[in-house]
Amino acid sequence: MVFRSMRLLLLFLFCITSLCADHACKRYWDWNTINTRDIQFPKNFRWGTAICEYQNSGAVNCPDNNWAVWEQEQGHIKHDQKSGISCDHWNRYHDDIKLIKDLGLNSFRFSIEWSKIQPEPGVWCDDAFKHYKEELDALVKAGISPMVTLHHFTHPQWFEAMGGFEKEENISYFVRFCEKIFDVLHDKVDFWCTINEPGIYVFQGYTRGVFPPGKRDSVLGSQVLKNLLRAHVAVYKSLKSRKGGQKAQIGIVHQHLMFKPYHEDNYIERTLTGYISHIVTEAALEFLMTGKFSFTAVPMMDLMLGGLTVPTCALSKTVVYEDSEAPKTFDFIGLNYYSHVLFSWYAGSAYRPDDVITDMPYAMYPEGLYHTITRLSQLNVPIFITENGIADALDDRRQTWIERYVYAVSQAIKDGCDVRGYYYWTLTDNFEWDEGRTMKFGLATKDRLIRDGSGALTRIIRAHA
Ligand code: BGC
Repeated sequence: MVFRSMRLLLLFLFCITSLCADHACKRYWDWNTINTRDIQFPKNFRWGTAICEYQNSGAVNCPDNNWAVWEQEQGHIKHDQKSGISCDHWNRYHDDIKLIKDLGLNSFRFSIEWSKIQPEPGVWCDDAFKHYKEELDALVKAGISPMVTLHHFTHPQWFEAMGGFEKEENISYFVRFCEKIFDVLHDKVDFWCTINEPGIYVFQGYTRGVFPPGKRDSVLGSQVLKNLLRAHVAVYKSLKSRKGGQKAQIGIVHQHLMFKPYHEDNYIERTLTGYISHIVTEAALEFLMTGKFSFTAVPMMDLMLGGLTVPTCALSKTVVYEDSEAPKTFDFIGLNYYSHVLFSWYAGSAYRPDDVITDMPYAMYPEGLYHTITRLSQLNVPIFITENGIADALDDRRQTWIERYVYAVSQAIKDGCDVRGYYYWTLTDNFEWDEGRTMKFGLATKDRLIRDGSGALTRIIRAHA
């Protein structure tokens, strides 16, 4: 009996250690020994690409939103570039649908531009509804399943002028917009994303101040993050209770950008990266996992991250909020994953010697996608990789990026994670926010020419769909 238990114990220890010896457990994998063709995907897997209406249609097509106003001011966008018509998705969506087909994809994630639908409070634009209905019909006719995002960083300028998500009482305007859209389009769309990347919206708009409203005030940012998460919960509950709500799949899109110390044991690096990761990633995730929101804003940190422009008398302030129902307010989780940031106290962003750097610039880190998927599996809902892609003007790293990140997804599925789709960011080169037009993320150019590197995705889909 004793020997039998010992044997079982040894077997158990062996399993644990051999599991951890597997490359999947390690922070970094040895890509020289990995065969990225060794992948498997379920038959009904969603292979898609993702865009955002404003990024792909530009200020000319969407003139009344916060970004259209923001980009006019000097110094906000790299080299003061303008989005213009961007790649004119608004008028050329038929070309884009053809492109999606040519690439072999079966799904398309795009955002509905609130400022087009509701140009003024209480005013609904029939033409905009008609436009989106036609676009959805064309997608479905082409056999492409749509996934709709309701807030992707932009909203009407009138909403921004009222204080946007800084004010709790404004949440109801967003909920009303979502309800209106859902009532009109629910029979054409199965998958709905409420809000894209609340953490990034706050970090860029309220900590770094490089997105509108351009504030550097994490105390206010913590309120905004709380309100965005509350808005998600309110939208979820409302849509679920409406006609078509029960069959609709409604989720939120989380960007899992972790900041890590370059020198593991350096106290300054650990403290600063812990703080930034909390704002960008952890605070929102913790709320989704536990229903508890806690965010300590430290103005001193804002100073280090780019200069304090909004005076605040508080030395640090903690915002707490709790909603025990929050962990039940998503049918799936959308994961946007690109990379991690290694931070060194003397060099800022730092890279490992073998890192392949994208144009943004951050390192290729597919291992991080695997680790994040396994972490998000604790949410116990299906996971969709709602964004992953590379800015690569020379198109000399895109193929490797696609093959390695898709491999990481396949490994996660093999290890039991419930991943249902992968959406490459993005379809055509578009307007990359404060980076302007310089970043080339597209599977195709703005003239709809498919890049060689994108062939990797098409080949994978043909072999595995
Ligand atoms: C955003 C996109 C952006 C992409 C690439 C994501 O954080 O959702 O709008 O273009 O990253 O930087």
